[in-house]
Amino acid sequence: MSSKILSAAVVGLDAEIVEVEADTGGGELGIIAIVGLPDLAVSESKERVRSAIKNSSLFLPRVKVTINLAPADLKKYGPSYDLPIAVSLMLAAGSFSLLGNPEEMLFIGELALSGDLRAVNGTLPIAVKAREQGIKTIYVPEGNAPEAKLVKDIEVIPVKNLKQLVRHLNGKEIIAPAPYADFNFSNTKILSDMSHIRGQEHVKRAMEISAAGAHNMLMSGPPGSGKTLIARTMPSILPDLTLEEALETTKIYSVAGELPRDTALMTSRPFRSPHHTASGAALVGGGAWPRPGEISLAHRGVLFLDEFGEFPRQILENLRQPLEDGIINVSRAAGNLTFPAKFILVAAMNPCPCGYLGDNEKICTCSPHQTANYKKKISGPILDRIDLHVEVPRVKFEKLSSEAGGENSAAIKSRIQKARAVQKERFKGTALIANSEMSSEAVKRFCQVDGDSMMLLRNAVNQMHLSARSYFRVLKLARTIADLAGEEKISTPHIAESLQYRARTE
Ligand SMILES: Nc1ncnc2c1ncn2[C@@H]1O[C@H](COP(=O)(O)OP(=O)(O)OP(=O)(O)O)[C@@H](O)[C@H]1O
Ligand SMILES: [Mg+2]
Repeated sequence: MSSKILSAAVVGLDAEIVEVEADTGGGELGIIAIVGLPDLAVSESKERVRSAIKNSSLFLPRVKVTINLAPADLKKYGPSYDLPIAVSLMLAAGSFSLLGNPEEMLFIGELALSGDLRAVNGTLPIAVKAREQGIKTIYVPEGNAPEAKLVKDIEVIPVKNLKQLVRHLNGKEIIAPAPYADFNFSNTKILSDMSHIRGQEHVKRAMEISAAGAHNMLMSGPPGSGKTLIARTMPSILPDLTLEEALETTKIYSVAGELPRDTALMTSRPFRSPHHTASGAALVGGGAWPRPGEISLAHRGVLFLDEFGEFPRQILENLRQPLEDGIINVSRAAGNLTFPAKFILVAAMNPCPCGYLGDNEKICTCSPHQTANYKKKISGPILDRIDLHVEVPRVKFEKLSSEAGGENSAAIKSRIQKARAVQKERFKGTALIANSEMSSEAVKRFCQVDGDSMMLLRNAVNQMHLSARSYFRVLKLARTIADLAGEEKISTPHIAESLQYRARTE
């Protein structure tokens, strides 16, 4: 006898339907053969399936069973085929009869030897694909049900173990479908508040602009001046995620296996801070089974690179494409994959190896050669992609010891939320979300400036030797500064402030 049921494979951030066929008869007793480009975890599936069926007191046929995973040219990874293989096998063997149309059902899940189901990665993209294909019901491990349920118009059946599923499928015990849950988008895990930072008003201002328009920022200053502290406070002012953004980030976390098990949806903006010893693949993504890297995990959030100068130059150069296009191409044996990577880069570094170059109290002990070498690590093209260059000097003792803190995060965040709302209105009907994402065409359309501002810009471009990219970036940043001020038109003060943050080229 033969049977056919549906499952799915994750490819990049999307899923593709996989047919799991089982055929009994011929050959040695009790043998299970899996064909259709399985990896090791899939091949080992037969051992788990065999034990799970036996330990669930279900009937295992004493015949040879061949399992085919189609399409054959799509490589199958991971243990999520255990459940569909078990179901298909038992159907082919006539262990139970299934009520309903198998073409309207999809199965995923890893089996423990006991027959219990374990959660798997990539449930959200699989649920999205299932709905597109007109599948009505998906059967997933209980732990994945809330994530699958983010796709509204599909029935999600949370399954505890194989035995329960079989009883459900043959109509003996009905499992209740997972309910749809509403979500509250606010950054919940806030550790510190902006008001705890003494002084550094101009740095906080730059951070506000960065969060409001999703602009990249580089802080440079002597040791202990508060760069790391300020960057780590940024989540407290980041705008709340929208549902669309939350679904985008959740998909990435789901595929990367980084979605915490008790979370269905990412409700806080990501804040990733990989160490400078992280590998290239960990940072940008890749591997034999391509996974999104830190820059994609930071999508719609912040990628904080502390000790920026310590990152290997080659790794920083890999950031050039994502910083420009908001995506990363990861190559793999079977072709190229693209992951989204629209993040705010926040970087911090010392101005030289000893850290005191330009400090007005301590003398820098580096030779000009050492300093030049240190600066060379960060290439011009990378610096050109950073809109906000800010110096973080040491705070004077009087300020540090004073009681008065600055504005708190809630007040700053409310201005940022307003500026984001203005951007949302502006970019209605386009794929843009924040000012920093504008193409040069969009800049021409949305960043009109008056004659005086144009003159200021022209002089600056000539005197500061700004690149064409810098010119557009100055305008985008000025747009955000005007949005924060609640002004529709970009005027001279906005351009002047924007220019202040440009990198000085010696
Ligand atoms: N402006 C400030 N307000 C309050 N505390 C501060 C400030 N600046 C520094 N500190 C205190 O000093 C400590 C060191 O600051 P931080 O680690 O942020 O320095 P840094 O600039 O990152 O130095 P490094 O270049 O060595 O990495 C912080 O934990 C914080 O307690
Ligand atoms: Mg630091």
